[in-house]
Amino acid sequence: MVEFFGKKLLFDPFITPNEMAKDIDVESIKPDYILISHAHEDHTADVLRIARQSGAKVIAIWEIYAWLCSKGYNHVHPMNTGGFATFDFGTVQMINAVHSSSFGDGFYGGNPVGFVVTSPDKSQCFYYSGDTALTLDMQLIPMRHKLDFAVLPIGSNFTMDAQDAAIAAEWIKTKKVVGVHFDTFEFIKINHKQAKEIFAEKGIDLVIPEIGKSYSFN
Ligand code: NI
Repeated sequence: MVEFFGKKLLFDPFITPNEMAKDIDVESIKPDYILISHAHEDHTADVLRIARQSGAKVIAIWEIYAWLCSKGYNHVHPMNTGGFATFDFGTVQMINAVHSSSFGDGFYGGNPVGFVVTSPDKSQCFYYSGDTALTLDMQLIPMRHKLDFAVLPIGSNFTMDAQDAAIAAEWIKTKKVVGVHFDTFEFIKINHKQAKEIFAEKGIDLVIPEIGKSYSFN
């Protein structure tokens, strides 16, 4: 979750089935918005529950909007890749991601995406890539956006590893990266120290967040 311009933006909630998050009280999570990058279970497991308990507006690609509506949740803003939409916390651009996207129930999930979120006065801006490979499309991002930080996967196997994520950070011109998508499954267990060193060599600060902790980037 990112607190941004007075609003709570929750990304890709995967809590209940996540052994590492067993101490998190899902009922206490009351975001204003939920942004979903793609349909995989480890990104959508708790979206309906948290949306219903909080009344949060969900921001997602058209096909995930259709899935949520099919489950009876209509408080959703549909977007598609490349588009911009303005909310009370700022502007969201939906960014291309290179991954796959499917729901466990067979519903079509559309394409995987990431988001660039910009405050109304343009003073704050961050990129949440979602699950993705390193892709040249990332070089388009700094043409429109001046990022303060980025949230990038570093676990390899299903996404970029730390080395590719560090290249991504250079391309998108950010000096601060929050690593995600690591350690949750056996396939994506990583060496934290090594990952931090890979970024440090490029002069980039890699934050490896601990579950349940808060970090401030002001
Ligand atoms: Ni995925």
